[in-house]
This record gives sequence, C-alpha cells and structure tokens, in this order.
Amino acid sequence: MENNRAQWSSKVGFILAAAGSAVGLGNIWKFPGKAFEGGGGAFLLMYLLIVPLIGMPAMLSELAVGRASQSNVVDSFRKLGHKGYTWVGWVGWAVAFIITCYYSHVGGWVLRYVASYATESGKVYSDPLGYFYAMLGYDAAAGTTFFPLTVILFAFVFMAVCAFVIIKGVEDGIERFNKVGMPALFLILIVLFVRAATLPGAAEGLKYMLSIDAKKVSPQTFLIALSQAFYSLSLGMSIMVTYGSYLPRHENIGRNTALVCTMDTLVAVLAGFIIIPAVFATLGPDGVGKGGGFAFVSLAGVFEHMPGGVFFGFLFYLLLLFAALTSTVSLIEGIVAFLTEHLHWGRTFTTLLTCGVMFLIGCLYTCSQAAFPLKGIWFDFANGVTFPPLCDAMEFLTDRIMIPLCALGTCVFVGWTWKPESAVAEVERCGVKFKLAKAYSFLIKFIAPLAIIVILAVSLFTGTTLS
Ligand code: PFF
Repeated sequence: MENNRAQWSSKVGFILAAAGSAVGLGNIWKFPGKAFEGGGGAFLLMYLLIVPLIGMPAMLSELAVGRASQSNVVDSFRKLGHKGYTWVGWVGWAVAFIITCYYSHVGGWVLRYVASYATESGKVYSDPLGYFYAMLGYDAAAGTTFFPLTVILFAFVFMAVCAFVIIKGVEDGIERFNKVGMPALFLILIVLFVRAATLPGAAEGLKYMLSIDAKKVSPQTFLIALSQAFYSLSLGMSIMVTYGSYLPRHENIGRNTALVCTMDTLVAVLAGFIIIPAVFATLGPDGVGKGGGFAFVSLAGVFEHMPGGVFFGFLFYLLLLFAALTSTVSLIEGIVAFLTEHLHWGRTFTTLLTCGVMFLIGCLYTCSQAAFPLKGIWFDFANGVTFPPLCDAMEFLTDRIMIPLCALGTCVFVGWTWKPESAVAEVERCGVKFKLAKAYSFLIKFIAPLAIIVILAVSLFTGTTLS
C-alpha cells in the first residue's frame, strides 16, 4: 500500500486480509496448547462464549475507530478529538512490535519444517521431539546445546520475505494467494482431522476436548481463553484500527466482523480437534511439555500414519507458512504505517530498519527456547519477582498485560468517551441498519471492559504457572 490511506481493492480483499491477519500461528500453534492446558472442554466452552460476547464487539469497535478516524493507531484517538487516549495507540503499537519479534521467528521454524518434510521426513518421524529440540539448539541425546544457526537463517528468510511484501506493496499478490490459500488450509485441516481422530488412542483426546471438568473452570482458564481470543482475532494491537482505516465507507463493518471472527474460530477449533487427539494418540497426554511444540511435534505422528503423509506434511506446513506470513505482514503494516505517517520516514527505510531490529530481538527469543538459559524478568503479587525464560517473558508481557490494556483502553474509549452510538453510526454508513446495536452497546460498555479488568487482575494478583 504505497499510499498510506489506500483502500482495499475489493470487498473480498478486505475480508481476506483481515482473516489473513487473524488466522495465523495463534490458531494452530498456540490454540491447541492453551486448550490442552486449560482443561480441554472447559477452555473450549469459554472460548466459544468469549468470541461473540467480547471478541466481536471489540473487533467492531477497532474497525469503526479506524474507519472513522482514517488514521493510524496512535493518531486515531487524537483525530477523533480525544488526545487523552493516545497511550492506547502507543501500547497497541508496542504490542505489535514485540509480537513481530517472536512471531517472525516462529514463522522461520515453520519454514524449517517445510524444508524438513521436503527433504528429511524420515528424521522427523524417527524422533519428533528430538528433532524439534535439535532445531532449537538442544541435543537431547548428548545433553549439549549449540547456537541454532540453521533455524535462525530460516527466520531471516521469513522476515526478508515479509519486508519485501511490505516494501513492494504486493497486497494484490497476497489477496490472490489468500483466495486460494485459505480454503486450501481449511480443506487440509479437515483431512487431518479425519486422520487424527481415527488414530488409535485418539478417542481419549477427543473426550478431553469435549468433556467439561468443573475443576478446570477457574479464573485461570478464563484468563487463558480471553487472552488467546484477543491474540487470535488480532485485537488489542494496531491492526484492526489500521485495517479499518483502509476500509471504504460503503462496507458493512458488522458483517465483516462476524465473518472474520467465525472463520478464525473455525480454524482454531479445528486445529484443536486435530492436535489434541494426535497428542494423546502419538505421545500420550504427558508426551509433550508445554504447548509450543504441539504443532511441530505431535503432528509427525499423524503424518507418519497416513497415506501420502510426507506430501500432506509438506503441504500443511506450507499453508501454515502462508498463514503466518499474512499475519506477520499485517503486524508490520501497522508498525510501518504509524512510523511513516507520524515521523515522515520513507516506507522502504522504515521497513528495513524495523524488520532488522525485530529480527535481532527475535534471535534472543529463539535462543532462549532451549539453547541458552536467557532469562526475562516478571512480577506478580503471588510470586514476587521471578526470572522466567526470556521467550516466556516476552509472551507474558504481551498476552497478559499489554494486549488486555490496549483492548481495555479501546473498549472504554468507544463505550464511554466516543460512545457506542458513534460506532453504530459508523457501521450504518453502509446504509444497512445495525440490528444488534443495543446488544453491542451493552457488551462494549460493560461486559468487555469488566472481563478485561478480570484478566489483568488475575495476571497481576494470582500469577499463574500457565502460559
Ligand atoms: N492473529 C494472529 C494469529 O492468531 O496468529 C496473530 C496476530 C497477527 C496478532 C496480527 C496480532 C496481529 F496484529
């Protein structure tokens, strides 16, 4: 988008770009792990309530603010006449920055797996967990660690491609890719679901995802589900405000919001129903440590036991790669849009500089997974000051504090300062009455802010061992 206030070339273009932003690693890499830790069915139920009750109103609000202000995230509040909320934009911008640091590296891991399935699937199959650790610089057999140069080079290539897309403004290409890539991803997920669900031992996993264990319904589960929903829907950062600002006036924000949220949730739930049964079937419930390895480790057991598995494995990671790419591009777009408009820096220079810095910070993220004991710092009232691995600390900071803070700021802004009526008017600009206006106003004024305050309080006061 050379001109910063460019507009989407078509209706489908916007939906695909917003869905492309939302559907990403969060759905396939993070969601199943969180569902597992959050107790399966209990988590799923909360997630499915949170998306329509909190996620949708929040997304609609961000899009409305963006389109009404026709501005990047930091300036949008000022443009609407409320300078006091500028901090919300800053937090959102910073979240996008921190997330891109690590997101681009996980994109590099996915690229590594594309290559792995193309060239050495036997090695992945023979020891899925060992292969994953070795990629991250830990030789489990020898108990030694090393600098994970290969995967860092893959991350570099991933980031370089994203930077190229942003500089060249090849959104056309992305739009076109998404038209095929999204349905293809969906199809392959359905194939994988059938295979995973019929693996011996998978039934336990399905049961886990479908039964609700009352003991697991805790504030913690709520915390994980709510922050995952924001992450997955690309909320509480600069994205939907920026994307909303590119949206033509005649577009129906309400319908678009519902569509994007539904697609995103379908993909996440489907991924959960593939990966959890696969974990139970291939590694046993305790087989994999924390969630991060799920999408990489447990799926090897699925691909190994299906006809054409290597091909499907390759295709799966390729599609995941594109899903990660469209999400990363949306993150960088938000970061760059602000810097170019605000500081009047050139688009190419800004992109190269920010991507370079984010890539370097991301190296610390990858290295702290297994190779080196790099620590971050964390505080909550239950445990005081702690020093979790740097990679965890980065995710805690964004998922538990900054995203909720930015989302809270946006909800309070729209609910109480700008007023829901303004957002409703923005929705109705397309000429169609917004039938859910009353429900929306109630949710954005009361329910969403309250729920977010609960998240913040739980993170801060109870601490939590869950990631
Ligand atoms: N929603 C993306 C995912 O689920 O992978 C991640 C993401 C992309 C978050 C873009 C935020 C964002 F602005």
